[in-house]
Amino acid sequence: MTLSQPNDSRSSAAVARDVSGRSVDVEVAVVGYDDVVAVSRNPEVFSSAKGFTIDDVPAEILEFAMSMIAMDDPRHRRLRGIVQSAFTAASVRGIAERVRGYAAQIAAGLPRDAEFDFVPDVATRLPVQVICELLGIPESDRPMILAAAADVIAGGGDREFVTAPGGAAGLGQIYGYALELGETLTPTEFGSFVILLITAGFETTRQALAWALHLLTEHPDQRELLLADFAGHIDNTIDEVIRFASPVPCMRRTATVDTELGGAHIAAGDKVVMWYLSANHDERIFDGPGRFDITRANAGKHLGFGAKDIHYCLGMNLARLELRVMLEELFTAHPALHAVGEPALLLSAFISGIAALPARTRDER
Ligand code: HEM
Repeated sequence: MTLSQPNDSRSSAAVARDVSGRSVDVEVAVVGYDDVVAVSRNPEVFSSAKGFTIDDVPAEILEFAMSMIAMDDPRHRRLRGIVQSAFTAASVRGIAERVRGYAAQIAAGLPRDAEFDFVPDVATRLPVQVICELLGIPESDRPMILAAAADVIAGGGDREFVTAPGGAAGLGQIYGYALELGETLTPTEFGSFVILLITAGFETTRQALAWALHLLTEHPDQRELLLADFAGHIDNTIDEVIRFASPVPCMRRTATVDTELGGAHIAAGDKVVMWYLSANHDERIFDGPGRFDITRANAGKHLGFGAKDIHYCLGMNLARLELRVMLEELFTAHPALHAVGEPALLLSAFISGIAALPARTRDER
């Protein structure tokens, strides 16, 4: 579906205004499941090299910081080929016990009789520990890395509504740190890859965890079902959380040639935004998509990790492991764990997330 056709023959990007009056590029919004799959799987026509967020990121930051996620093949294939063996299901199983150790520690440290904020106290901690562990970052440096990653994700300032990552200070800090760490790739490639891992690996997984607690609290019947047979339901629950909430709500491509999609004309140079959040609620694929149902038979069809295309989430196995183990440790230590009150949502077109989520380990009674 095209939101608006270009209105300037010299440029394919028309100018529109958002609710606050700010001028914004007009993009093609791809909202149906089949169309999102079609765009994802046609990287010759829909390129990643000009960026993957709705707002453009300055070219030098894109090149410097975004690694394979902002590349087309053959550069993309080469980089992904070098690192992907570390992220297979088998490699990830190899670190499962260490992940469990961290998760158990986090669960054991939660207050028994006081309210706490689930986002910093639980959801943020595990992904930070795991990525830092993978990269060999010592405990003492982890707070610095976390603050730098937050700066990148927040766009580097106090913008109210974030549409692209940024944060030169945070990028610089992680990059400098990464250069000292390893040498499998060229130093430049390694630096960029570490930035990508830290930003892609932290924010997404912690958001999925926060959504999981919120959704399971909002739907006590589903929570009861899960706790009655945790091993039997947890994998599908994770898929349903990711389908329902889509922590990465969209990814952008840029058309390399004039083309058509779903009857709409797309001009070379148009930004094409694949809305996973919308595709994951496409009623032609998901029956009653607004229902949170951990037994949904086709929850695993969601596009929350991408559409099995060349950029399909490299960290999916790791994310699944973290979510499974953290939720298991939490509910084993605190069967009554629940959110209290509404989540404070992040204002971002880049991450569909929860900034704060008050929680308790026991009933208030
Ligand atoms: C619930 C958690 C996560 C979600 C929802 C998620 C989602 C996504 C999505 C939608 C993409 C883009 C797919 C595409 O364009 O086709 C992506 C790419 C990527 N993700 Fe994740 N992700 C998660 C966790 C992680 C973790 C834990 C890591 C690393 C430790 C990671 C590393 C990456 C990388 C490196 C890419 C780029 C791959 C490429 O360009 O070839 N992600 N992720």
